[in-house]
Amino acid sequence: MEPCDFVLFGTLGDLARRKLLPSLYQLEKAQLIAPETTIVGVARSESTDEKYVSLVRESLEKFMKEPIEDSVWESFARRLRYVNIDLMQSNQYSRLRDYVDQAQRETVNYCAVAPSLFGAICQGLSTAGLATERARVVLEKPIGKDLASSKVINDAVGAFFHEGQVYRIDHYLGKETVLNLLALRFANSIFTTNWDHNTIDHVQITVAEEVGIEGRWGYFDQSGQLRDMVQNHLLQILTLVAIEPPVALDSDSIRNEKLKVLKALRPITRDNVDEKTVRGQYTAGFLTGGAVPGYLEEEGGNTRSNTETFAALRVDIDNWRWADVPFYLRTGKRMTTKRSEVVIHFKSMPHNIFKESYRKLPANRLIIRLQPDEGVDIEVMNKVPGLGKGVHLQRTKLDLSFTDTFKNERIPDAYERLLLEAMRGNPALFIRRDEVEQAWTWVDSIQNSWAAQNEAPKPYAAGTWGPIASITLLARDGREWDE
Ligand code: BG6
Repeated sequence: MEPCDFVLFGTLGDLARRKLLPSLYQLEKAQLIAPETTIVGVARSESTDEKYVSLVRESLEKFMKEPIEDSVWESFARRLRYVNIDLMQSNQYSRLRDYVDQAQRETVNYCAVAPSLFGAICQGLSTAGLATERARVVLEKPIGKDLASSKVINDAVGAFFHEGQVYRIDHYLGKETVLNLLALRFANSIFTTNWDHNTIDHVQITVAEEVGIEGRWGYFDQSGQLRDMVQNHLLQILTLVAIEPPVALDSDSIRNEKLKVLKALRPITRDNVDEKTVRGQYTAGFLTGGAVPGYLEEEGGNTRSNTETFAALRVDIDNWRWADVPFYLRTGKRMTTKRSEVVIHFKSMPHNIFKESYRKLPANRLIIRLQPDEGVDIEVMNKVPGLGKGVHLQRTKLDLSFTDTFKNERIPDAYERLLLEAMRGNPALFIRRDEVEQAWTWVDSIQNSWAAQNEAPKPYAAGTWGPIASITLLARDGREWDE
């Protein structure tokens, strides 16, 4: 791998401390960071390298589950430098020049800050002469809150960096199990040849969260679950389930195919938004840890918000492969448990010869568990052993659990993979501008239809699977959610 320097803007923020610094430590431990690489933390407050190093140590101790190893820490700490920059002051970016050496190495500039600052950072890097071909920028979500605002952000960045230098994060694309969707589909002929409207009845994608909004009312209330989760994470999962076989694993082959799926999403408009979507908002309820407040009672909240904390949708993909195969998506905060999965429901048998013991044969299901308890199940019908009259059938599971099968492999955090790919200069797992914009175009139509309706979201008690209306959404099509 070509060595690079790594600049972390927003190094004192929550994301950097909770996720990015621990992930960099793990890469150090796996010896995946080139010896020459310097990690430069950037924030506004004045500080010293020594103070920064101890702050990083504190973050690792607080946010990593495993103990820090002395030898790993020593080599990691040796790379750490701190630079204070007021991100709005272009003339201060020249301070970085003492730390990054573009004559020798490329620079990865990771923007773990509010998107409104992305443009200022790029401008500052340019003023300092650091926005060269030897630099890339990594952008955290959200890239805007609709198509128009995403264009403003992308233009501000695009004024200094061309598309090949811009790495937009969707951390779901760093998750092992999400990447495994490609392996399952394109390394197994049993799936490759049974993956269309001929054999699949419908697909369900659930990303249920147990957490609430975790003190982020200000951000979340302006966003809501559709923009916060569906526009990015759920649509990315959907595209990987739905894409045509890419010719290769290179970045543009995959991203071109994903874009085609996004373009084929049937628009949800004012005419059909009622039958195709459900919005919910949690009220007080109970989770494993005890009683929790409702969304409107969360700290910093107001009592009149109509922001949704749950969304369920019926999505149709207008292409040959997925004709008449609905994709049902649902995601919510404060649901019964944290569970993300894709369930492929195959079609039922056209003729049942086991009527005597099973009036209606259940269809096969392929359950891809994304998190937690990562794995893949296939449900198949089997004969129950025995000499009794008739053939008794039972639905049984072929169960591949990642933790049992790959016992000696650690499942890396999504950010470890993404930081590594950004350092390697491989954009395949990052979102291209046309993908972001296509996803916003589709989501904007839903958001605008909801706004025009001006209805309160349906209440659901924290600790449940969402509002009753989400059950009706599937019941109308004669189906039900997997629970
Ligand atoms: C983030 C959202 O992108 O993803 C959060 O902003 C959400 O609201 C989080 O909780 C979920 O990520 P994960 O990896 O815990 O499923």
